[in-house]
Amino acid sequence: MGRFVKPAEGNWTEHYPELGTDLVSYADSISPEFYELERRAIFSRAWLNVGRVEELPRKGSFFTKDIAAAKASVIVLRGADGEVRAFHNVCRHRGNKILWDHSPREAARGFCRQFVCKYHGWRYGLDGKLNFVLQEEEFFGLDKDDFGLIPVHCDVWEGFIFVNLDEAPRQTLREFLGPMVTGLDGYPFHLLTSRFGFSASVNANWKIFLDAFQEYYHAPILHSQQQVASLRSFETGFEVPYFQLDGPHRLISTGGWKGVPRHLTPPENMYPIERISQAGLMGPWQREQPEFELDALPSGLNPGKLDPWSVSTFNIFPNFVILIYERGWYLTYHYWPTSYNTHDWEMDFYFPVPRTASDRIRQEVTATMSKEAGIQDMATLDGTQQGLESDVVRQYPLSDQEITVRHFHKVVGDWVDDYVHEHEAARA
Ligand code: FES
Ligand SMILES: [Fe+2]
Repeated sequence: MGRFVKPAEGNWTEHYPELGTDLVSYADSISPEFYELERRAIFSRAWLNVGRVEELPRKGSFFTKDIAAAKASVIVLRGADGEVRAFHNVCRHRGNKILWDHSPREAARGFCRQFVCKYHGWRYGLDGKLNFVLQEEEFFGLDKDDFGLIPVHCDVWEGFIFVNLDEAPRQTLREFLGPMVTGLDGYPFHLLTSRFGFSASVNANWKIFLDAFQEYYHAPILHSQQQVASLRSFETGFEVPYFQLDGPHRLISTGGWKGVPRHLTPPENMYPIERISQAGLMGPWQREQPEFELDALPSGLNPGKLDPWSVSTFNIFPNFVILIYERGWYLTYHYWPTSYNTHDWEMDFYFPVPRTASDRIRQEVTATMSKEAGIQDMATLDGTQQGLESDVVRQYPLSDQEITVRHFHKVVGDWVDDYVHEHEAARA
């Protein structure tokens, strides 16, 4: 799928005829059986972002990531040679989860030279090799070389660490990301290392929350208290000026107000802390770093050439979203399914290292305002899930402004169909 600019007359959806304009079903979001298929077709086969290289600052740094949808726990580490690697967090002796913190359900992170299983003390090196077996002579012809940790495919793009749980991934990470996402190559993510994170357990299918963040049709209604929406009329709504679809991924770019009251009078309902700190939902009002001038950034950041441009949201299939703001910072979301109608949601903010206390306060104000918007979105989800699960309505309309929702559910369906067909073919 290529890049299009919407004509003066017409709509986005017509550029992607394979999507159609029919009513859509959300049966994919209320079905335990469909979730079982998604687990195998998507979460066990797609490249999944599990963290950033800054989380592994030195040789021996590690963190674990539990991926419930794939029934997997992964150890991600920086080896003695400086390379980032991943292994299944499973002891080769009797299957114990090797690394955890406080409880086996809690992720671990830290630094070590080797991993020691808590059960019988087998030890593994940073290269995954089994180095020590207690009472090795009691085993029967055991060759330690055959019992290393099971490696997981792992690759890094622009500092984002991805894993793929498939035994033989069908695409490299770069092929999977495709031209639209890799159009961000060279963005200075490495300068944005001041991080704030939030997470929540949500009573909704993972796709329902992802949908809530991939259209702005709801913004003037659901976020009527917040600045962006307050500049739009309840009657006219909010129109996204640029969409792009590429393979399984989606891009939404918005222009308009940057959150900096330059030519506009600051909205009446601005919080006092925004005025005092000079920061808000869209970021700190001032941006001094020349690295974040649009001219210095990759053209893939604002492919619609919007002027003014404010945010580009890259929805990277299946569950990872990067929002890059004109004010020189970015935000990520991850949606980790835990059942057909629950998931864990993560929201992380990345800013430049603050040079002054005021910088730090501005970042915290932005993170807090943005989290508030996220909680407003989250508040509707339980209700949407309940409404869908009542199953009284089977088909729903989507507008042109919701093309991303239409595309996402189609891609999920396509991946599941491909998986089912491959397995039927293998059985035949
Ligand atoms: S299960 Fe790990 S050493 Fe026994
Ligand atoms: Fe929202």
